[in-house]
Amino acid sequence: MIARVRVYAPATLSNLGPGFDVLGLAVEQPGDYVEAEWSETPGVEIVEVRGDTGRLTTDPTRNVVGITATAALRAFDARKTDSRPPGVRVWLDKRMPLASGLGSSAASSVGGALAVSELLGGVFDRDELIACALEGERAVSGGGHADNVAACVAGGIILIRSYTPMEMLSLPVPDALRVAVVHPHVSVMTAEARRLVTECRFEIAQAVANLGQLGALVTALHRGDLELLGRAISDDLVEPIRAPLVPGFADVKQTALEAGALGCSLSGSGPSVFAFASSDDQAASLAACMAARFREVAGLDSDTYAGTVNTRGARRVDEDE
Ligand code: HSE
Repeated sequence: MIARVRVYAPATLSNLGPGFDVLGLAVEQPGDYVEAEWSETPGVEIVEVRGDTGRLTTDPTRNVVGITATAALRAFDARKTDSRPPGVRVWLDKRMPLASGLGSSAASSVGGALAVSELLGGVFDRDELIACALEGERAVSGGGHADNVAACVAGGIILIRSYTPMEMLSLPVPDALRVAVVHPHVSVMTAEARRLVTECRFEIAQAVANLGQLGALVTALHRGDLELLGRAISDDLVEPIRAPLVPGFADVKQTALEAGALGCSLSGSGPSVFAFASSDDQAASLAACMAARFREVAGLDSDTYAGTVNTRGARRVDEDE
């Protein structure tokens, strides 16, 4: 067994337009770091949470990193194959915004589960890590959606084919695909944004529209067809309901598309907005122009990120990364 580990769990975009709760994409930055070491005190202790401006608890039964570290220890014990030290001490370093639609709780959830798995010698496979991480997501979001945690664990672009039983498929990532993300400084609580969706009644024509776009999106990824991918970033179901939660969203999306974005939509429950691009320069300039538009139309400051898709997913890193 390893004495101490440090892991990195990336932020994730989810839904990607037509794929509510079934599509996810991992980005390189931002993300969370989790460190863990064995302890002689039974259970999980969260020693410190950094980067959260005091908003998160260190109570391991209420912070997702504690919930999923505990779930991972429980899953290991259930195997009855090996013994382990009694407890784990955990440090969580949030390097990404909370309640942003970028899978913040998923990153911490995956970080907790992966850190324990690595302490134990890397015992859990992808599906087991997702199962542990989902316990954190269930605790905070009012539902067990796996699009963020699956993308965070596996990296790349994923499709949840089935929730019962859980089956995740990794989709091809076109080499030229770049992602621009803007996080305007306004909070949207995932549980509330999900309530709006689950309480809504939809027309069959809306479902038909999304089914067509979802199929087109998967086809585009397999063909490496960025133009078709961009056209498939369209959501008749959820985006219209959630757009009013993000001041300026319609203007920002229009600006991104006029500036040449392949496609643009909310990330998860928002308020973050993503756009797809076909070069590093285009992604950087889209991120900048979307942020400028949020300031202009809604008076909101933003964080911006631009880069490639993270195809490695959550991973163990060196102490000094
Ligand atoms: N798929 C989830 C949702 C992600 O849209 O509610 C939450 O960020």
